[in-house]
Amino acid sequence: MKTIDDLQVAGRRVFVRADLNVPLEGETITDDGRIRAAVPTITRLVEAGARVIVASHLGRPKGAPDPAFSLAPVARRLGELLGQPVAFAGDTVGEGAHARAEALADGQVVVLENLRFNPGETSKDDAERGAFADQLAELADAYVGDGFGAVHRRHASVYDLPARLPHAAGGLIATEVGVLERLTTDVARPYAVVLGGAKVSDKLGVIDHLLDRADRILVGGGMAYTFLKAQGHEVGDSLLQADQVETVQEYLRRAADRGVEFLLPVDVVAAKDFPDLRTKAPAHPEVVAADAIPAGLQGLDIGPATRERYAAALADAATVFWNGPMGVFEHPDFAAGTRAVAQALADSPAFTVVGGGDSAAAVRTLGFDEAAFGHISTGGGASLEYLEGKTLPGLEALGRED
Ligand code: 3PG
Repeated sequence: MKTIDDLQVAGRRVFVRADLNVPLEGETITDDGRIRAAVPTITRLVEAGARVIVASHLGRPKGAPDPAFSLAPVARRLGELLGQPVAFAGDTVGEGAHARAEALADGQVVVLENLRFNPGETSKDDAERGAFADQLAELADAYVGDGFGAVHRRHASVYDLPARLPHAAGGLIATEVGVLERLTTDVARPYAVVLGGAKVSDKLGVIDHLLDRADRILVGGGMAYTFLKAQGHEVGDSLLQADQVETVQEYLRRAADRGVEFLLPVDVVAAKDFPDLRTKAPAHPEVVAADAIPAGLQGLDIGPATRERYAAALADAATVFWNGPMGVFEHPDFAAGTRAVAQALADSPAFTVVGGGDSAAAVRTLGFDEAAFGHISTGGGASLEYLEGKTLPGLEALGRED
């Protein structure tokens, strides 16, 4: 993959495909980690005298403008972080985008509106995507791919546009790929992986792959209840993907055959109802054994004995990859499990990687110092797909010759 050093950028319009898909409450950005991660590459281009056009998706709008998914608040925050004015185009390939892009002087920055307001961005039809990429290409002279969080998407701005312009990978993509290479080649052992999050179906590919590579797999979050069910336990009203029970049983058998330690919760923090994340009203939690969750209760976090067990299993690891919260960390009654795993990683001398998405947001919103972790990825789905050994369209496109 070429880097920015291989591109001529001074005085040229450079299209930067970033991943600025940040969580918003109204117009308030609740975690600006992805914007901060985009800053070094943009700064580098600014300092090199490029005219920088920054583009991203935000959320999943339905291929048409939707003010709830506007990138306007993101453009404002980017301006604050860069310490210079950042223009905002109210569209992607229309008059606003052209006028703003053409008005840029060397070292100036514009953010385009959400790429997913155009149906061509995410289209499965190559021609429709290609037509949108053609329009985007008219805005710029060169392309820098730096949206690591979106490289697993075969989308126009990620996959088709680099084929139309001289292109290179930005510094964030280079860093993220370097970290993932370290997890896949010559990994320092013991290699422990912590997986959480709601759905086991999102993690099947990565578990399948890791059963041949990891020494220990620790499971928490909503996905744990399908594993507990697969072991024959009652899970009460907890989240359950009944159609995955057999697959999960097979994974547990394989783990035993291969000597992979597979840790499941021994106790959980449960409540009658799912907590109110807006008011954060007390949810009356109780700790129950993981092998006998009573009917009428749902597990919403790993319990204290599990927290201790997981911290011990991480203490002597040499490499740790963590993806997915251990519970409903957004509510204080169910945050202790995620906090305990974050603390175990922060205390560990191992090479620790927090794999994007909710777990990265959890680390920041629970107040941990980012410097305590080896790497906090900006890509949840992208890092999982990389670890599954899949070809990622955005990386494939950046690796192609001009
Ligand atoms: C993410 O949040 O994982 C990335 O921004 C990709 O978003 P998507 O899953 O909506 O494509």
